[in-house]
Amino acid sequence: MTTDRLMALDLLVSVLTAAAWVSAGVAATARRPRTAAALFAVALVASLARVWSVLALAGAGWWFVQEKITVVLPLLVAAGAAATALAGPRLLRAARADAASRDAVKAPAVVVPLLGAGYAAAAGIVQTFLIGYPADPGTALLLLAVAAGAVLGTWRAMSTHVPGLRTATAATAVAAVLGATLVFVPFAEETTAEGSAPGGTAAMGATGAASHAHSAAGESAPVMGGATRPVTDLRGPATPPPGGAVRRFTLTARTATVTLSSGRKVSAWTFDGQVPGPAITAVQGDLVEVRLRNADITSGVTLHWHGYDVPSGEDGVPGLTQEAVPPGGEFVYRFVAAQAGTYWYHTHEVSDLGVRMGLYGTLVVTPKGTATTGVDLTLPVHTFGGATVTGDRDQPLVRQAAPGTPVRLRLINTDNTPHRFTLAGTPYRLVAVDGTDLNAPGTLGRAGLRLAAGGRYDLAFTMPPGPAVLRIDDRTDSVRLVPSSTGDESAGASADAGAVPSAGGQTADWPELDLTRYGAPAPTPYTSRDHFDRDFTLVLDRGFALTNGRPMYAHTVNGQAFPDIPTEVVREGDLVRLTVVNRGRDTHPWHLHGHRVLVLSRDGRSVTGSPLWLDTFDVQPGEVWEVAFRAANPGLWMNHCHNLSHADLGMMLHLAYEGVTTPFHGAHSG
Ligand code: C2O
Ligand code: CU
Repeated sequence: MTTDRLMALDLLVSVLTAAAWVSAGVAATARRPRTAAALFAVALVASLARVWSVLALAGAGWWFVQEKITVVLPLLVAAGAAATALAGPRLLRAARADAASRDAVKAPAVVVPLLGAGYAAAAGIVQTFLIGYPADPGTALLLLAVAAGAVLGTWRAMSTHVPGLRTATAATAVAAVLGATLVFVPFAEETTAEGSAPGGTAAMGATGAASHAHSAAGESAPVMGGATRPVTDLRGPATPPPGGAVRRFTLTARTATVTLSSGRKVSAWTFDGQVPGPAITAVQGDLVEVRLRNADITSGVTLHWHGYDVPSGEDGVPGLTQEAVPPGGEFVYRFVAAQAGTYWYHTHEVSDLGVRMGLYGTLVVTPKGTATTGVDLTLPVHTFGGATVTGDRDQPLVRQAAPGTPVRLRLINTDNTPHRFTLAGTPYRLVAVDGTDLNAPGTLGRAGLRLAAGGRYDLAFTMPPGPAVLRIDDRTDSVRLVPSSTGDESAGASADAGAVPSAGGQTADWPELDLTRYGAPAPTPYTSRDHFDRDFTLVLDRGFALTNGRPMYAHTVNGQAFPDIPTEVVREGDLVRLTVVNRGRDTHPWHLHGHRVLVLSRDGRSVTGSPLWLDTFDVQPGEVWEVAFRAANPGLWMNHCHNLSHADLGMMLHLAYEGVTTPFHGAHSG
């Protein structure tokens, strides 16, 4: 069974357990001994099933059961055992007795233990959902106190004499106060084994916390004596490397009403009045210079080069690498187009709203010396104005291409959730993922391609004699390529989509391609057998946490939300392993700025296909991903969920190189 299924099963069993104990207690109160006895039996079986489901889940990793093993199960087992010992015999006797003596089942000695077990089981569910991972003594104590208080309250309501009530109440109160103190009074910012200072203070975090991160390795970082560099010094060059050209763009952010291909109007935040913004293209080795101006986006705007390993000062993270550009302001970005491939850019200020409203565009860098022949389409897919829009079209793009023409489709998911793509009518290859070419990608036919939020896939094929159709989520035709006889592939661009029949047919049952098994292995600069200088584990979950100082039902990392999640501190040259665990019910497309990561394993199984270099990897519920990267791009970087609404609810942190500081103090809100 998959971890995801096990988590769902465990949840089901936990609810059943709590419901059965409580119902047994209620049935006893209602003088229904037979029903109560039957429910008691169900509760016992459910409790045992719960022990089994937790142990089974433990097989997926300690992260999935930590709070269950340390708090939830002990509480359930203790309360269940007490209920069995105290209420069990009386319940059975009453069930066999005649009507007259059935009142005995209503006694506190039966009802209180049964309900108590129900409260304990319910407390476990609360622990899992409100606090999640990791459980700490404070919340455990608090929960214990709440369950105990409920037991005492029930008992008191049922009888006037509760033996030892004062002592028990006092003990409960002490536990509650102690628990609350541990939870709510911030003690000296305790650092986790692998963490450091809170992310909000990356300026100092990068230096002050370094000794923590290093102490595990038995060395202390002489950062204070070493040189420090402000992130604002880590900028791109003013001139291109020899042989490169300068590619200049000016993008002006402003509000505008955008007209989609169907004629529908959507009010948007735009670059240059269009959504997506102007396509930025370059040849490998060029210097890209983009002047960003803000006309009237009142919350401010920046440009972040998603997946592109630019110098940190060009990364466009407000409050960390620059201030957001206010209306009337500007900022010039410069970087060398060193990586060829398909990328995109977007604002990083209030990015959830900003990107959704249209502040994004594409960045495509072609390798030097390769003239583009044939059809090369860059296709950012966005949910916009309630429709799935490809580029600026809410209708299928129809293109003619002569059979035999090489075709490349560059798919970019600019949404918060994954999309599923299918290509019908032609065999094809998935030649690049997140801008990086795959090794020996095989021919695909009836395959579903799940593309993570923020991710890119490049598909390549030779135009067949018949039509080829790219479809999104098995319902929206995005591109229809139709064979032309003229050989002039640009001539037939037509908005008259209805005239071309879809070649798609039914695609919903096409199996999903497993990228970790696609293509052929090739040597990589490091593998899971290497020694890692840093090892960070990120457990993703939901829970109550402070997000930018406000209590929220946040998307958490190791139980905390931005900016309280400890910064990952690295030193230039370090080989770093990142383990990302998803304990929750949502998919988290995990994204690291400034570095491509090499996937080492997913759910403990290593990649057997082409090496996978990603900047965004989709960590689905129950999954555990291990990825690695070389810390070779000094700076201060965001590390966050690219479901930007999750990032907004706390799911982001910083990766800081030792010695790099920032003059900006804005609590970066994503
Ligand atoms: Cu495309 Cu910080 O993200
Ligand atoms: Cu997420």
